[in-house]
Amino acid sequence: LNYLVNKNRGEILDTLVEGLQRLEYRGYDSAGLSVDGDEKNTVLTFKQVGKVNELRRFVEENKPNRSKDFEVHVGIAHTRWATHGKPTPTNCHPHRSDPDSEFVVVHNGIITNYREIKALLSTKGFVFETETDTECIAKLAKYLYDTNRGPHLEFYQLARLILRELQGAYGLLIKSVHYPGEVIATRKGSPLLIGVKTEKKLKVDFVDVEFPEMALSAPHSARTNGSNGTSGRPAINGRTPGYPPTIGFTHESLLPPAVDSLRHSQSRAFISDDGAPIAVEFFLASDASAVVEHTKKVLYLEDDDIAHIYDGELHIHRPRREDGASTIRSIQTLEMELNEIMRGSFDHFMQKEIFEQPESVINTMRGRVDFDNHTVTLGGLRSYISTIRRCRRIIMVACGTSYHSCLATRAIFEELTEIPVTVELASDFLDRRCPVFRDDTCVFVSQSGETADSILALRYCLERGALTVGIVNVVGSSISRETHCGVHINAGPEIGVASTKAYTSQFIALVMFALSLSEDRISKFPRHREIIDGLYAISSQIKEILGLDSTIKMLCEKSLVSQKSLLLLGRGYQFASALEGALKIKEISYMHSEGVLAGELKHGVLALVDEDLPIVFLATRDSLFPKVSSALEQVVARKGRPIIICNPNDPTVAELWKKHSIGAVLEVPQTVDCLQGLLNVIPLQLMSYHLAVSKGYDVDFPRNLAKSVTVE
Ligand code: G6P
Repeated sequence: LNYLVNKNRGEILDTLVEGLQRLEYRGYDSAGLSVDGDEKNTVLTFKQVGKVNELRRFVEENKPNRSKDFEVHVGIAHTRWATHGKPTPTNCHPHRSDPDSEFVVVHNGIITNYREIKALLSTKGFVFETETDTECIAKLAKYLYDTNRGPHLEFYQLARLILRELQGAYGLLIKSVHYPGEVIATRKGSPLLIGVKTEKKLKVDFVDVEFPEMALSAPHSARTNGSNGTSGRPAINGRTPGYPPTIGFTHESLLPPAVDSLRHSQSRAFISDDGAPIAVEFFLASDASAVVEHTKKVLYLEDDDIAHIYDGELHIHRPRREDGASTIRSIQTLEMELNEIMRGSFDHFMQKEIFEQPESVINTMRGRVDFDNHTVTLGGLRSYISTIRRCRRIIMVACGTSYHSCLATRAIFEELTEIPVTVELASDFLDRRCPVFRDDTCVFVSQSGETADSILALRYCLERGALTVGIVNVVGSSISRETHCGVHINAGPEIGVASTKAYTSQFIALVMFALSLSEDRISKFPRHREIIDGLYAISSQIKEILGLDSTIKMLCEKSLVSQKSLLLLGRGYQFASALEGALKIKEISYMHSEGVLAGELKHGVLALVDEDLPIVFLATRDSLFPKVSSALEQVVARKGRPIIICNPNDPTVAELWKKHSIGAVLEVPQTVDCLQGLLNVIPLQLMSYHLAVSKGYDVDFPRNLAKSVTVE
């Protein structure tokens, strides 16, 4: 969104397409965008199925020849991960209200009552063109605009009428020919941030204005003084910012209005110098990677905020909260660098991220682990650590790979803290409505900090008064904001849909958490020393394992690529590694793979074993090694040809190799038992990567998946 910035359409289209490309990992079945047309009050929309490059090509071929210049311009764009309706050009966003595109919207999330809205609007003559839930928002906008004496309605007021009818989750942008140069951005359950770029030094002046709906028609003077005494701005272009005219909301409500929508407060960020309009650009996006190349100044919206941008100003309206939640939305400076979200010389983001792990694990520990004194300090937990020590139990809640990092560290958590730990999949935790109490500590582990199931589980725990802790990668994400305290894993942006470096960093963050929780237990000191010494060496050990890359590549190409199925066996600390390895293989190589607890082999899985089925054994040395090696014996006795991941020169494995035909042996350095999973997972990440590449699949864009699942 640009104000007083002379941009031609070519530049605007490029900015939008590049932004989409940076966000492509969030969804990539189709993409689309809308920009202003040549004629006043017209909109040009481009949509294409497939990856953003398809859209880029389509835009290049179909954009108007004339590259019009715009002083003020609003463009919206979207890359889709289908929830309702197949990926087709029609189902792709932006969605329009009518053939003239009076309103166009892009939306992340799910509108759960879209069928009811659609049914009602159909009786009002609206013809629906798509199978999506989003289309109802665009049509609802037009309906409410038309029925509320449109021209007298400020855009944000219209937005409030729209939101009153919507149920579900949304990160939403609305653009309209009735409000040229304006945009509405609002969220509930789906992330949304606003980047701000100005030529001059940014001057941000927050005026917190609170007034009940009843006062909407109060005289001007009653409203231009903010609560901090700052006077309001003069009208620009004949309009008084944030000064709504008297209107009667006469629309036919589809639902009873939410009580808190009757009151609201407003914050205004004046992006100007002494009231004079200056050139400013706003970048609205669901995550910072789309924004960072333009500006590092960002503001994260909270649920129910309605951001209204016009005349170069950002206004945030929100329902007044009874819980006293902060009404200030401060501008933050991103620490992310552009090169962190570029692929560099690697073929894929996933490959880059696997190879970044020697550094990313150090970044997780930097400034936190004192290797000389064997202590750990986690600033984000400091004031809560003694409360957590007294809690009745720890419940870890997560999804996907993050769930596996919880499983991987559960045993060391229990051993060090002597607090019972349960590990929950967020969706199941909610389905069961798991009992949660005030003296529980609930730990939410999430790379993105935006996974809908995890956020809902977090809110569920907050309602029950539990202490909540976030272990997240994305700074400013919903989980990091809504938890009482937490740890950023500092792995750097992770773009590959299959999570790799976030897993190892989550693993380390959780181990550090357990270490700092048990710092007061003298009996645990020797174990602390051992683990911290183990952490010291972990980076160089990961580097060493990455040297197996070409061996693993060959193994995949020669013997695994043609297989239909693959089992991974481990027990104790290595069960999580087996599950995580199997998930990686499923996600990107589409090969059926299962992580099996080695102790369960004899209870069913053994029936699958023959000379063909590849079985990866996680057989590194720890107290359970004798049991793992007996499972190995059971497999080779049935002509199975295992691929064994073990420590260097393991005599038991060497003995086995002499007698039986073994598929392959991959040696990984030894570390402390509870950290061994950090190392064992690396060959599995490489295996999944090479399997996918040798099958010719698009590693960074696995079919049907998305990096950040912001829907339930
Ligand atoms: C999606 C991703 C997985 C990820 C999971 C949880 O399914 O594809 O890679 O592990 O979500 O995501 P989170 O951001 O909460 O860790």
